[in-house]
Amino acid sequence: MDDQNIVFVGLFASADSLKRLSICRGFLVVENGKITKKGTPSEFETLKKSGTYSKFKIVHLNAGQFIMPGFVDCHTHAPQFPNIGLGLDRPLLEWLAKYTFPLESRYGDVDFASSVYDKVVKRLLTNGTTTACYFGSLHLEGTVELAKSAIKHRQRALVGKVSMNLKNDAGYYNNTKKELQEVETFVQKILELKNELIQPIVTPRFAVSCDAELLTALAKISKRYDCRIQSHISENLSEIEYVLQQFPSCNSYADVYDKSGILNEKCIMAHAVHLTDDEIKLLSSRGVSIAHCPASNTRLKSGLCPVKKYLDSDITVGLGTDVAGGDSATILDAMRRTMDVSTHLELKGSADYSLDWTAAFYLATLGGAKALGLNNKIGSLKEGKDFDALLIDMYAKDSAIDNYKSFEGAEDFDIGLIQRFVYLGDDRNILQVYVKGNKVKDIMT
Ligand code: GUN
Ligand code: FE
Repeated sequence: MDDQNIVFVGLFASADSLKRLSICRGFLVVENGKITKKGTPSEFETLKKSGTYSKFKIVHLNAGQFIMPGFVDCHTHAPQFPNIGLGLDRPLLEWLAKYTFPLESRYGDVDFASSVYDKVVKRLLTNGTTTACYFGSLHLEGTVELAKSAIKHRQRALVGKVSMNLKNDAGYYNNTKKELQEVETFVQKILELKNELIQPIVTPRFAVSCDAELLTALAKISKRYDCRIQSHISENLSEIEYVLQQFPSCNSYADVYDKSGILNEKCIMAHAVHLTDDEIKLLSSRGVSIAHCPASNTRLKSGLCPVKKYLDSDITVGLGTDVAGGDSATILDAMRRTMDVSTHLELKGSADYSLDWTAAFYLATLGGAKALGLNNKIGSLKEGKDFDALLIDMYAKDSAIDNYKSFEGAEDFDIGLIQRFVYLGDDRNILQVYVKGNKVKDIMT
């Protein structure tokens, strides 16, 4: 089944840029996990008649169906899923101390880790997240389990063992030497898995949990192994105040990371709600990407992130669910909240125009792929890319949307299907999920 070569015939939606979606009817050929050809309906008929696809499985999409690229979640915390929806009435630092660190401390238990991570990966795939960039926990073996779960269920993933060396009430930190040894061992273990879908990512939690010595050494490890690095920046005002007190020689939060050598084109920073203009310039000049996490920014009352301003400053942005600061594991939710937050900023008088549904579609797919350095491989339905894709059915059984038929035949029917999925769709509409041509979800009836 998995390595079967397939031709899909029907409607396709894929982002070219923040402002442009390509929505067209035709055919798309998948061979050995890659998109090898696309064309018009009449080209397909000609090729079919000539027998070109006689050995292929041909899938004709129904009226309410279309194919789109898989979602990219640029920032989520796999060990926090058991806490989803808990304690969100507290601000960040209190929430971390009371709910998050005590839960994450439990992942030294490898069996517990593997049972949670198995569910997490399955949950994300069900919701169409074909690529996830994960924070694991402080634990080496526990976090290797996360990579193994992704491999088992064939999700594309960047997996990070969280680094922390500063004291907290939960006793959830390592001494610097042990931490650095473990990070290096972790990176080596992930590389030894030799799975083309999985990469390690160096993961200093944030400057509240890591001192300058650890941050600097972690930046060096990421350079030595040529892997990516992720952290949190400027999420909440009390956090920023605390960081500036801890690093008196630095003139901003971004400066703390810059002086440690972390800010470069392999770096992805989550949140970035309260950056100053100088920090925006710095992140942009270093080629840092931002994971926009609107659910947790709202739930923990961190703030309204001015995403459009970052995009206008040539910063690459992707979306993150940031569970369990975020209360939803699906990128569809992140897309809607991205639109909402940008509208709220606009209503408050910001000069930004709102990010519309086209922009949300881009950020959830190609933008995220770019933020993770994977845009040559995934993020759109371009020939030559891996087939990481979703088969959507807006008239799926038990869907939240009924088929009233009134819309069929309308001039804007195709665009309307995609719009409706962005605004109203859920996992019931995601009938099939493919990662590198492997079918990892199938609820097609
Ligand atoms: N900053 C440092 N750690 C975390 C975390 O686990 N979640 C969120 N939202 N912010 C953080
Ligand atoms: Fe986070």
